[in-house]
Amino acid sequence: MCGIIAFTGSLDVIPILLEGLRRLEYRGYDSAGIATVDEAGIHVRRRSGRIAALTSALDDEPLAGNCGISHTRWATHGPATERNAHPHVDEAGDFAVVHNGVIENYLQLRQQLEDDGIIFRSDTDTEVLPHLIARFWSGDLVAAVTRATEVVRGTYGLAVVSRHAPGTIVGARLGSPLVIGIGPHGHSIASDAGALANHAEKVVYLADRQVCRIDANGWSVSTRGAAAVDCATHDLRQLVDVGDADLGGFPHHMLKEIYEQPEALTNAMRGRLDDADATARFGGLNLDPRQLRGVERIIMTACGTSYHAGLVGEYLFEELARIPVEVEYASELRYRNPPVDRNTITLAITQSGETADTLAALRESKRMGHTTLAICNAVGSSIAREADGGVYLHAGTEVGVASTKAFTSQVCVLAMLAIYFGRTRHLSVSQGERLIAELRALPDAVHAALRCHEVVKQVAQRYSHVRNVLYLGRQFLYPVALEGALKLKEISYIHAEGYPAAEMKHGPIALVDEETPSVFLVPRGQVFDKVMSNMQEIKARRGPVIAIASPDDREVAKVADDVIPIPDVPEWLQPIVAAIPLQLLAYEISLLRGCDVDKPRNLAKSVTVE
Ligand code: G6P
Repeated sequence: MCGIIAFTGSLDVIPILLEGLRRLEYRGYDSAGIATVDEAGIHVRRRSGRIAALTSALDDEPLAGNCGISHTRWATHGPATERNAHPHVDEAGDFAVVHNGVIENYLQLRQQLEDDGIIFRSDTDTEVLPHLIARFWSGDLVAAVTRATEVVRGTYGLAVVSRHAPGTIVGARLGSPLVIGIGPHGHSIASDAGALANHAEKVVYLADRQVCRIDANGWSVSTRGAAAVDCATHDLRQLVDVGDADLGGFPHHMLKEIYEQPEALTNAMRGRLDDADATARFGGLNLDPRQLRGVERIIMTACGTSYHAGLVGEYLFEELARIPVEVEYASELRYRNPPVDRNTITLAITQSGETADTLAALRESKRMGHTTLAICNAVGSSIAREADGGVYLHAGTEVGVASTKAFTSQVCVLAMLAIYFGRTRHLSVSQGERLIAELRALPDAVHAALRCHEVVKQVAQRYSHVRNVLYLGRQFLYPVALEGALKLKEISYIHAEGYPAAEMKHGPIALVDEETPSVFLVPRGQVFDKVMSNMQEIKARRGPVIAIASPDDREVAKVADDVIPIPDVPEWLQPIVAAIPLQLLAYEISLLRGCDVDKPRNLAKSVTVE
């Protein structure tokens, strides 16, 4: 799983590739590498670690030229070392390959190649590709790459250069996204359109099994071994949020994105709250009223934080729309065979729109004939393009690997969707009006919730040394407990578990001791008394308690060791407001422990392998 970017044209290729790699670093940052090609041959620079390490390698030993390929890696096969960094080359140094995906039959292919005397120089699955391409070379790079893709099994987005054809780059796709960039000074191939933002004007999305060829003067696409394909071009500026990712005065992207949440929520709701009809409105769902009313069940599918948003969505849909919802990890759903009927729709939830498992689950649902919808942040992403209909978050680029503003925006969109479905069923006009008014007040409430930051800093000081933390909540706040635990794990490497507050008696309470704090989500609401009892159970076992509670709640203050106040909002919107202190707590603890907040170890922003 990785990011690739390649360019050929009249510009100096190195700055283009480095800028592209920076934009693709969300796909992995274990190692990075570049290969340029000219009449003299292929020239490679690779380094383990971040792109900064590659940049300094290039300072020491510069490369120049107008044609090159590059890669940023998230290790799947073989550790994150320089020897496993892409590009990989064949024995003679005639072909160089960068690859996103997994070659599933690489062991068998490697054995065959080794039996023929080929010496491998890495532990990767990718390295079989340059050796295969060299074997199939008969004067035509497209033909050689095509032959190689016919013998590999698995997924790939590839870019290949050859010393026999300097100035030409061949790409191929199966399962991993690949786009061609068309610009005034040359052509490019990349894992996503965002990586092309500094030099291309138009993009072409490759479909599975397509192979492309670019050079300074043109581009062409064919389907494996067949005739050329006519492809639609898309205006890049309409597709990607080109103005990305500066820090705007914040020390980290994660903190910036936490603070952007009031604005992100406003953007998610903009133009979608309809006072006249007391409902929400969506432009791109592509469901006619009959289909809408006919929906009897929704399967929500997602990974990571987006899965937790789906779990909140389950409560919202059942409460507001009275539609049964099942939420399933996409990695599980894709191989399940759940009995579903034609009135079931599948809703994929994804920030990036590129998560491999979510994409595969969506495709499997489509194949079975279901209507598929997606909630996506990344405009023009694979899932956004393949779903039958969908809703964009409009949250702006999220750079921090730990998702924050995408989560609260996803929950907000799910809340609006639940109102929309609910209003076609049992919600009255006055109920719709009340819900819409409550949604409108949400950005201000989140703004107010951010004022807990100073208190959170003090709490973080007290607990940054601990080894285990429990996160406990009930009902709407149970998924938020899961999300709080995930945030802490991701960026501070502290073991944390989220649990329904009452369920902790059936296992996690055994972990409780004076060194194991529990974070309780206990704002005022229907289950307040029940959660208070659960809190007492922890205190009775000397476990420290951090409570996320309504302002000035004396009852909570009597029991909890630390209280972080959040504004009171209606219960169905508490997940959004309660997520704020948990995001800040994970951030502050991560800082105190000296961790890399925005790029935690072993993780990637977008997981494009299964
Ligand atoms: C990775 C990221 C998470 C994210 C998950 C799903 O694990 O680190 O932050 O929640 O993928 O990503 P998606 O883009 O599909 O929401």
